[in-house]
Amino acid sequence: MSISLIIHSASQLVTVAGDAPKRGETQSELGIIENGALAIRGQEIVAVGASDEIRALATNETELIDARGRIVLPGFVDAHTHVVFAGDRAQEFEMRLRGATYLELLKAGGGIMNTVRNTRAASLEQIVAETRARLDRMLAHGTTTVEAKTGYGLDTATELKMLQAIYELDATHPLDLIPTFIGAHAIPEEYKGRADEFVDVVVEEMLPEISGWQMANGKWQKPNGYPQSAIRNPLFCDVFCDDGAFDLAQSRKILERARELDFPLKIHADEFANLGGAALAAELGAVSADHLMVTRRDEMKKMAEANVIGVLLPGTTFGLGKHDFANGRAFVEENVPIALGSDLNPGTSWNESMPMIIAMATRYEKLTTAEAIVAATLNAAFATGVGERVGSLEAGKQADVLIASVPDYRHLAYRYGTNPIRHVIKAGRVVV
Ligand code: NIG
Ligand code: FE
Repeated sequence: MSISLIIHSASQLVTVAGDAPKRGETQSELGIIENGALAIRGQEIVAVGASDEIRALATNETELIDARGRIVLPGFVDAHTHVVFAGDRAQEFEMRLRGATYLELLKAGGGIMNTVRNTRAASLEQIVAETRARLDRMLAHGTTTVEAKTGYGLDTATELKMLQAIYELDATHPLDLIPTFIGAHAIPEEYKGRADEFVDVVVEEMLPEISGWQMANGKWQKPNGYPQSAIRNPLFCDVFCDDGAFDLAQSRKILERARELDFPLKIHADEFANLGGAALAAELGAVSADHLMVTRRDEMKKMAEANVIGVLLPGTTFGLGKHDFANGRAFVEENVPIALGSDLNPGTSWNESMPMIIAMATRYEKLTTAEAIVAATLNAAFATGVGERVGSLEAGKQADVLIASVPDYRHLAYRYGTNPIRHVIKAGRVVV
């Protein structure tokens, strides 16, 4: 097969080349090639370099895109979302504007539980259709891979329905979706005052059930009977460890069981209160700890030592109208690899734009623009378990490529509120 597509003459080709999460000094390494180009064969990048060199690879069948005056960069990976849900919570937003707090609404049976009721009542088709519209807008803003959590079911059947929606969208939408099971996202109303009993349900019923089922050919199957290699993406397990959700002992119990069942781990830690979730992530060898708005330096050091990626979610702090943004600068100083996500969810952060997340991370979390771009591409890919496949522009990687209408990468953070993404190439195909 000859070269199918060449993108050339980019003012900057931002490769973010690297084979491990970048941290400390290297968190800002963009690997820029001025007047750069890349060549794609089918779904894969086959060459990256100077425009003259790469253009010489073209044949009669090669499509050429001139990126003059624009930058070319890897597709964004959104490392943390709750994009799969039914309905909305606009009414609670208005209540928050009048002074109610997020945790008050949650404790009164609203918040996450509100969306749980909608999601339990919705058909699979309805959930898929509502989510698809969000994925379309994310793709238009340059997201090409998205981590997607369950957690609005809180019973085994609805958690499985959410996982099925994730697999179905992965198979039928250009975006790649990487699933995370978060059965411990809230204490369901039928277990109010009996959180430990619900934790037992997660540990004894949901985790074994979900680890034993996988999607093949659009149908749920027990894994025996078809090759494990058919399962392309990891399935993570996450817990909301915070005030009003699950305490440290409950979170530990769930994550330890998940680890026994071979789930890679994530944790929602330090979004509201510091319960010790970041250190737990380090102790258990989690792939990432997420939110981290009130994490201490000694906990950052433990994360760095255990190679836990810190996933920062500035859209949540902004979405809550709060000011205690995560201290991104401190994480870089402590050598923790930083990734970014939108946390897209109907409660705290309905945000579908990674450029907007980069704009916030630079101003409020004190990352440089280069650090934030690495966090939104290569490091987010590693936080999502797919760093070998996507997140940078290098020969051998899947061709997930953005062309942005800005002359220089710094404009991605400097400007905000309009969409800088001109074209999106997903797995070698121009989709936007
Ligand atoms: O990351 N913190 C827990 N989960 C979400 C909120 C989910 C919701 O409110 O529906 C978050 O902020
Ligand atoms: Fe979240």
